Amino acid sequence: MSILKELLLLSPSALLALFIFFYLARCKRKHPNLPPGSRGFPLLGETFAYLKPHSATTIGKFMELHINRYGKIYRSNLFGEPTIVSADAGLNRFILLNEGRLFECSYPKSIGGILGKWSMLVLVGEMHQSMRMISLNFLSSARLRAVLLPEVERQTLMVMASWKEGVAFSAQEEVKKFTFNLMAKNIMSLEPGEPETEKLRREYITFMKGVVSAPLNLPGTSYWKALKSRSSILGVIERKMEERSQRMIEIGEEREREDDLMGWALKQSALSKEQIMDLLLSLLFAGHETSSMALALTIFFLESCPKAVQELQEEHDNILKMMRERGEHGLSWDDYKLMDFTQCVINETLRLGNVVRFVHRKAIRHVRYKGYDIPCGWKVLPVFAAVHLDEELYTEPHQFNPWRWKENSSGMPAMSNFMAYGGGPRLCAGTELAKLEMAVFLHHLVLKFRWELEEPDCAFAFPFLDFPKGLPIKIQAIT
Ligand code: HEM
Repeated sequence: MSILKELLLLSPSALLALFIFFYLARCKRKHPNLPPGSRGFPLLGETFAYLKPHSATTIGKFMELHINRYGKIYRSNLFGEPTIVSADAGLNRFILLNEGRLFECSYPKSIGGILGKWSMLVLVGEMHQSMRMISLNFLSSARLRAVLLPEVERQTLMVMASWKEGVAFSAQEEVKKFTFNLMAKNIMSLEPGEPETEKLRREYITFMKGVVSAPLNLPGTSYWKALKSRSSILGVIERKMEERSQRMIEIGEEREREDDLMGWALKQSALSKEQIMDLLLSLLFAGHETSSMALALTIFFLESCPKAVQELQEEHDNILKMMRERGEHGLSWDDYKLMDFTQCVINETLRLGNVVRFVHRKAIRHVRYKGYDIPCGWKVLPVFAAVHLDEELYTEPHQFNPWRWKENSSGMPAMSNFMAYGGGPRLCAGTELAKLEMAVFLHHLVLKFRWELEEPDCAFAFPFLDFPKGLPIKIQAIT
């Protein structure tokens, strides 16, 4: 009432100005200044063209054409929703940093169906925070030093021990075995080679195919098979959890010695059984696929860059000499911290290979950025690959050049544009473990072997990464 009274007291011209202001604001909301772009076909939009497989070291024809035509921020219709696609480093950062305020994680329903409704990739808000805290505590730097470093080295040596000189094998398969065994051990103390671990690994392959397939729950489809695999995997996890809970009752929680995520979650959190199972499954997924592909890419890039292999060998030879002088056999945290060039190789691999090419978000408020409107409810895709391969930000972006990351190199790229691990409140919880895994694996690889491709292969983005031939290599031991 009082607002109406005050309005009546205004002069007619002020009233008119007020009316025009609100009218224009309404028009603006109805016809916002959307980024340029196209909608493609009805319903399907441009999804198929966007997802069309392409070499992992490129951004693909679709992105290339769209960026050339519309610029680094454009609109489209993807995954059945109106979408803003961003190849702009600033906007990508802005999106990630404003998680929960302006944008929210929003993966397609199929991912939630497979990874589970309590998976960290689909949770938002407080529940995401508490799951994240459990994961971060589990992957804390104290645990990395004391538990994970020796375990990573043990698993590396175990995988490499089965390699035979002169006999071709799939490097992709081997690094997948390595990261899977490592995660299975750390998540629920499964030992490599045990029947249960092998069963889980086989189920997991079917499961993965479903994560990236169309969500058609009809008998025989990849999605259907993956849902069945999910149940089998959860069956194993559940059985293990029951055994563990029973043992904890029998011997007392404090005497339980298994230092894995399962024990951690059972002892230290108020999560339900279903929530713990989804947490374990999503960590197995997040921690296995990504770092194994990163390692396969490193092996691939290094094979055609002998200069980098040589510099790595020098770095790791020095570390080995120091270890021998100390009379030690295993790598220490101090040794790991000396692996500077190795970290350059890791960064460059992730920049050029782009294991996680883009993430899914949606705008939860109406957002304005560089004059463009991003309407509330629209899907938003920050495409990291497009930033990492942007020639305005990286000289010769398609070249594998680990030296660009050297601290004193003149053209060292800005770290703020490097988003291989995402950023903001959802920054990859396993960043430090991933770096450690890759560095320790590389330490032994370059000191023990020379390797070459058995036949040409190349990583493709489907958009998940894969070497279609499995990256077949032959090794020769360094004596
Ligand atoms: C080179 C290897 C890796 C890469 C490139 C990578 C990349 C990423 C990216 C880009 C995200 C953000 C997803 C988003 O914002 O929607 C993410 C999230 C996550 N990653 Fe990684 N990751 C790697 C290894 C690992 C490992 C080894 C683990 C665990 C053991 C792990 C656990 C997670 C978890 C739990 C999340 C969810 C974080 C959250 O939502 O708060 N990642 N990762």
